[in-house]
Amino acid sequence: MVSPDSSRIGSRGMRVAGNFRYIQFILVILCGNVFLLAPAFSQNNTNIEFRDQGRVVRTLSLTDFGAIAAVVSLKVFEAHEKKERAYQVYPVRPLLDHVFGKTWEKAEEIVFTSTDGYQPSIPVARFLAHDAYFAFASADGAPFTLINVLQNNELVQLGPLYLVWDNLQSTALLADGASGMPYQVIGIELTTFAVRYPNLSPPVQASAQAQRGFLHFRKHCLACHTINGEGGGKAPELNYPASVTEYLKPEYLARWIENPTSIRYNTVMPPLAKEIPNRTTVTQEIIAYLRAMSAAKRMPKKTP
Ligand code: HEC
Repeated sequence: MVSPDSSRIGSRGMRVAGNFRYIQFILVILCGNVFLLAPAFSQNNTNIEFRDQGRVVRTLSLTDFGAIAAVVSLKVFEAHEKKERAYQVYPVRPLLDHVFGKTWEKAEEIVFTSTDGYQPSIPVARFLAHDAYFAFASADGAPFTLINVLQNNELVQLGPLYLVWDNLQSTALLADGASGMPYQVIGIELTTFAVRYPNLSPPVQASAQAQRGFLHFRKHCLACHTINGEGGGKAPELNYPASVTEYLKPEYLARWIENPTSIRYNTVMPPLAKEIPNRTTVTQEIIAYLRAMSAAKRMPKKTP
């Protein structure tokens, strides 16, 4: 069970990232020997795709971003490194206003697609309640990378865009950990959750505990994992054909969620954010959701 899963994740991540890396590679060749300049060059010319309910409405390069919004420097609590850090950023709202018009505020969720397969769906309400920014460089000229302490100290590239929040004064944002902070963003889509993810909802007769677990799962797990084939492409499917609640003992499942490295040495799955209030209850509610979904298996369809 262990190794087939891990190898599948590897190849999936590679496939998602493949085209992007290939384009960068070509750009490096086109730039001849000026290898060091190539990443900056390719970064400014990377196209970010904007979709509305699946339809592509716009593609913009980072150079285009500069004509729409003003660059500012922003200090944030860097949840992936667990320390403060400053980035050069564009405010998100004027960019969304420019691409979608004010109607984006009426949408339900925004799905972000990252080159590594990460794909969080973030409620629009969060963008209305807090100030979000797209970081595109470090403020101090340091490489636009970080050491992700939540993923076994993996060194990750943050570009082309990294979604950050003005979170230093917000207990609500700080309590969410790194959820809602996708890096390597190349796609931004307005969506309606139930339409885009029709096979994720627990059955109507599922307990209130499972319904609450569904909300936690959306926020903390779905960006990486799929249920019935729907969700992020960075980690294994958890429900089909066999649910993790069927092949993992409940106490090990809870441990896996709260402390993955206590089960698998060097795993890159991050623990459920330590900052979450009532974390043990949240874990149990997520497990109740996963158990409810084991009674609602659907064969995965290919999603666009
Ligand atoms: C940043 C990405 C990421 C997030 C967020 C994440 N996971 Fe994972 N998860 C992984 C990866 C990668 C693996 C495979 C790790 C391995 O095999 O070492 C994994 C493995 C698992 C497994 C083991 C599956 C198996 O069959 O071996 C379970 C169960 C699981 N995750 C549940 C969850 C739950 C529940 C959440 C939300 C609380 C969650 N994960 C959040 C990346 C993530």
